[in-house]
Amino acid sequence: MTTKILCTALFGCFLLMGCSESVKQAQSNVDEAQSSASTSLEVGKDYHSFSNPEQVKISNLGLDLTVDFAEKILTGSVDVDFVRVMPNADKIVLDTRDLTITKVTANGHDLAYELAAQDSFLGAALTIVLPEEGNTFKIEYHTSPDASGVQWLTPAQTEGKKQPFLFTQSQAIHARSFIPLQDSPQVRVTYQATIRTSPDLLAVMSAANDPNTPRDGVYEFAMPQPIPSYLIALAVGDLHFKAMGERTGVYVEPAILDAAAAEFADTESMLIATEKTFGPYSWDRYDLLILPPSFPFGGMENPRLSFITPTVIAGDKSLVSLIAHELAHSWSGNTVTNATWRDLWLNEGFTTYLTYRIMEMVYGEKRYAMEAVLGRQDLQADIDSLPANDQILAIDLRGRDPDDVFSNIPYEKGALFLRELEQKVGRAEFDQFLLGYFKHFNFQSITTDQFVAYLEDKLVKQHSDVLSMERINAWIHSAGVPEGAPEPQSDAFALVDQARNEWLAGNLAAKDILVGEWTTHQWLYFLNNMPAKLSQVQLSELDAAFALTQSRNNEIAHSWLLMSVNNWYEPAFPRLHDYLVHIGRNKLVKPLYKALAETPQGKVMAQKAFAEAKDGYHPLTVKANEGFVQ
Ligand code: BES
Ligand code: ZN
Repeated sequence: MTTKILCTALFGCFLLMGCSESVKQAQSNVDEAQSSASTSLEVGKDYHSFSNPEQVKISNLGLDLTVDFAEKILTGSVDVDFVRVMPNADKIVLDTRDLTITKVTANGHDLAYELAAQDSFLGAALTIVLPEEGNTFKIEYHTSPDASGVQWLTPAQTEGKKQPFLFTQSQAIHARSFIPLQDSPQVRVTYQATIRTSPDLLAVMSAANDPNTPRDGVYEFAMPQPIPSYLIALAVGDLHFKAMGERTGVYVEPAILDAAAAEFADTESMLIATEKTFGPYSWDRYDLLILPPSFPFGGMENPRLSFITPTVIAGDKSLVSLIAHELAHSWSGNTVTNATWRDLWLNEGFTTYLTYRIMEMVYGEKRYAMEAVLGRQDLQADIDSLPANDQILAIDLRGRDPDDVFSNIPYEKGALFLRELEQKVGRAEFDQFLLGYFKHFNFQSITTDQFVAYLEDKLVKQHSDVLSMERINAWIHSAGVPEGAPEPQSDAFALVDQARNEWLAGNLAAKDILVGEWTTHQWLYFLNNMPAKLSQVQLSELDAAFALTQSRNNEIAHSWLLMSVNNWYEPAFPRLHDYLVHIGRNKLVKPLYKALAETPQGKVMAQKAFAEAKDGYHPLTVKANEGFVQ
């Protein structure tokens, strides 16, 4: 941990503790986290926030921020409204990371505050003495150019090349790098914001956005529903809007506007189908923001405005399950929210289950079946490679950075568990259960234990012939997947297996495989299930027959490039270099860096690509991959 002390105001150390003591305090938090494996875990305690919501809770934020592209900082203030949970609470603890706090005031008077030493991944606690009168105070501050939750892009790093671009990514614990707040998913806030930028640019937020707002450089937002901090989001760029349906539209740089609107044209149908089965949509509009390719995730469910990677614009809607996924979070995640990062599977597992259901409703059973088989295979890859503790749904994350623990487990294992419940009690009954669950916990943050208690009460008791708490606890607290779990099957993949086997046996030339009607999913299944080692002759035969090195589908290209690295197929390397330099989505680039780092020659290639790409990568992508090139 760094021992940088950031007591920015002289009176900052007038609190009960002195500065040196606060360093000790930060150190002891780290020690506590590190030695925690041996002590018992406190369910519902957020081990990733310094804040004290059990004493005082923030309830509303009023942001006023100026976007400074030259300095790469956000400067301004936040008005924080709070509620005393304990009537005698006299201090509030907020999370920050790399923030410079210049002033804290209430009722026109300075408040005493103290910024503790920075922990390596949790940031620094900001303790403020509460005003004796009123329920609000103001913090004046600015961010650092290195803020972990903000990416600043130069005009050259955008599609249009003329205007700069900025976007935030708060999940899991990065909101604290651009707003001082209680950065815990169990604290919900409403917010208002004024964002000041150049009139050439448009700002959008995870809030009510008016597509017809005058482009004057001063943009006002309101998020009237209480949301957890990880859903606060901002983007600024040369953004334009196109409607896709009555409640859906897309924001993106103008050069891609039409392509994006065409690719995601089914968003409105997805919204309607989801509402029909899982209850009313709570958030008014559902728009998409398409980011530059450096966006480190596939998508992020920022309420009313999902943030989406452009790497899924394939031209044939083959990768739009991502949209179904981010939309589904409007139910699972944004209205019913995980209380701590240990409970992430409540967000991602439910959402993955809902994604499959939406895909089935909108595109049919064949598409659903293929996606479910691919998901099951991704899960198996993680079960085969992750340590047992990291295969547990309700994972113990004490002392760990949530960014380092990202895997398919909360997603696909969570979804498979729910699929089993569905199969055991029947779909109609399970849908009723889910409808009730979303209603019961609407706008609440809940723990795994709360879900399990609800499940026992509303489903297990009524179906004790097919459901047992013992098996449910095995799903949630054991590694792997319990024996007898559902096994997704797809007929469309049977013929792919057959073609692959015939080709591998030398009975069929690649050019004679009947791929005419193959979908992206069949291609992925074809490639992902090749043996680990193929000969150069086999690789060139595949490439000559199907032009895989040139594939414009980023998922297919990913699978092919990974095979190419693992088999040192040099003709694919120029494309590999371009791919790594152009795309910052971690799920697509990390496996490639990892595979390259396994050989000395590969490492040299990885170093070259990383050095060229680094300035354009998001801080999270840099952090996740820099270890491979050292
Ligand atoms: N909320 C997640 C992204 C996330 C999770 C960010 C945990 C930080 C910590 C988002 O909804 C997501 O799951 N994205 C996936 C989409 C995919 C599973 C369809 C992604 O980005 O790959
Ligand atoms: Zn998700």
